[in-house]
Amino acid sequence: MAKILITGAAGYLGAQTTVDFIKTGHEVIAVDNYLNSDPVSYRLISEITGSKPVIYNVDLADHDAVNSIFSKNRDIEAVIHFAALKSVPESVAKPLFCFQNNNAATVNLLHACEKYEVEHFVFSSSCSVYGDVSAKDLPVDENTPLKTPASPYGYSKQNGEYLIECQTRVTPLKACALRYFNPVGAHPSGNLGELPAKRVNNLVPLITQKAAGIIDSFTVFGSDYNTRDGSCIRDYIHVSDIARAHLNAFEFLKSRSEPSFEVINLGSGKGVSVFEMITAYEEATGQHLDYLVGERRAGDVEAIYSNPQKALKLLNWKPELSLLEVMESAHKWQQKLISLGLGKHKLG
Ligand code: NAD
Ligand code: WQD
Repeated sequence: MAKILITGAAGYLGAQTTVDFIKTGHEVIAVDNYLNSDPVSYRLISEITGSKPVIYNVDLADHDAVNSIFSKNRDIEAVIHFAALKSVPESVAKPLFCFQNNNAATVNLLHACEKYEVEHFVFSSSCSVYGDVSAKDLPVDENTPLKTPASPYGYSKQNGEYLIECQTRVTPLKACALRYFNPVGAHPSGNLGELPAKRVNNLVPLITQKAAGIIDSFTVFGSDYNTRDGSCIRDYIHVSDIARAHLNAFEFLKSRSEPSFEVINLGSGKGVSVFEMITAYEEATGQHLDYLVGERRAGDVEAIYSNPQKALKLLNWKPELSLLEVMESAHKWQQKLISLGLGKHKLG
């Protein structure tokens, strides 16, 4: 049974991936300091899997604390590194906090991998590394030149990728950076999903909150874009598909004989508009959604979607779950949050 260290394991994507690693017989060491999550995730994970990971409440920006986890677990085979601050507006307001947190954590983990001879490393990157892409760049593949990111958050992901790549040149490390497009939805059971931050900014949780009557209004940001219905286009991908890709990535890295670094897009390859997302929610739930149409949101890219062929080739991975399944699971998770008393805010 391979021992896998998952950082950010109490968070949205980390918790789903922890479920998949436990279910496939791995031993998971879960690290999180609950900067943007709550330990309730571990209870939900154990309700789904029947077992809990080994849990460390550690700030990954603390070098000694990270070392201590590795010194107590000499047989870690891989690090799956989700932990980061992901809020774009927060990174603009507090850039040093973002860089200190995201990049110090990555440096500390790479140090520990070198010292304790851990050879497999999967990094959570983001389509935000591509910056403000133009229509001629679509669909975005891994060779699309990286532009200046629109935020310190995007820079922290570009930096993270570069730090890891540098290490693969001088140590036995085999690594990949998975560039997620827009992860959405919840565990298909509806029993594990993203805990809402104090202010939710993302499309799908806002749709489910509006439908549940938690927020008064929901606004489509812009209907005058140069797209098929005037709203922005994104590449939405079910969180369960994202989680499964990490199992494939671990298998892929184990199959490599030499140190290496690969960047791989995780997307569906299909662009979906905001209006189409609303329709998908209505179809999946049979519930009508009232919404307003407003101004463009500052900083939004008009359209971005992936070319996912490299993931198919290297990871033998492609998304399996549909947008209707995304919306069904998101709807069920919203009901679960309400039943847990976590409707609007995360646990204090
Ligand atoms: P999340 O905020 O739900 O999870 C991140 C977890 O990391 C949280 O539980 C947080 O408490 C933890 N964390 C942050 N800093 C830490 C530190 N210094 N020490 C210990 N734990 C720390 O976010 P998520 O949506 O699960 O995203 C996971 C990763 O995927 C992030 O790296 C994010 O940048 C990346 N990503 C997310 C999306 C998305 O839309 N969700 C898209 C692209 C990339
Ligand atoms: C999706 C679409 C909005 C809210 C963010 C990060 C990105 C990456 C993924 C981490 C956009 C529209 C939204 C609303 C709306 N994360 N929208 N009304 O901005 O594509 O990407 O998450 O790496 O870095 O920036 O995601 O869910 O906020 O927005 O019309 O109330 O929904 O304009 O077109 P985004 P999102």
